Amino acid sequence: MSKITDKNKIKIKIIKNGPYCVFGSVPLTEKIITPVGKHYEYRDGRKLPQKEVYSLCRCGKSKTPPFCDGYHDQIDFDGRETASKLKYATRADLLAGEKIDLMDDHRCAFLRFCHTEKGKTWDLIERSDKLEERKLAIKSAEECLAGRLTAVSKEGRKLEKEFKPAVEILQDPEKEVSSAIIVKGKIKVEGADGKTYEPRNTLALCRCGESDNKPFCDCSHVHTGFKE
Ligand code: FES
Repeated sequence: MSKITDKNKIKIKIIKNGPYCVFGSVPLTEKIITPVGKHYEYRDGRKLPQKEVYSLCRCGKSKTPPFCDGYHDQIDFDGRETASKLKYATRADLLAGEKIDLMDDHRCAFLRFCHTEKGKTWDLIERSDKLEERKLAIKSAEECLAGRLTAVSKEGRKLEKEFKPAVEILQDPEKEVSSAIIVKGKIKVEGADGKTYEPRNTLALCRCGESDNKPFCDCSHVHTGFKE
């Protein structure tokens, strides 16, 4: 796997009606959303080539997924970005729990890691005075790689680990679909208009081409049965 040499070179540039160009030797892996009992785990998928610069398909029609092969030109892909560039803290609701709180910006990628053996993250927050529930609430919020949920202390401190820069291609065999592109480690995502989205610890980009909240995933891949 290639090494990250210069943090300043790391960036994702969205090409107008085209792919995501990833710069800076960002490690690229495939992960499989795997049901285990009543919870989920990310398991390693196939090995993907490591490159200094690579382009990931955004239209969902490439014949060489997850990479762009130029097919977006043939289908006149409409990749218009419609998502808000406001910061997470502005967009998210704050839900008060017993011992810890939960931020929720409602950007769901249907990854389902908010489902745990002991209930959903929102319910666990309400019972977060109990140690096991609190731990599970923090874990499940952190594993929501869409970046939708963030567990926070009563003082407002984020209760999540900081991810290293990485790009992960998700597969969701349980739903028989291919899922989002996960971007970890506060990588800057620059829109086609040259303006950037807030760098996040983790976020989910659309790669089926159908999201109503481009460039972010809105679980359209599940509704349209997207399979790369
Ligand atoms: S974005 Fe280029 S083929 Fe899909």
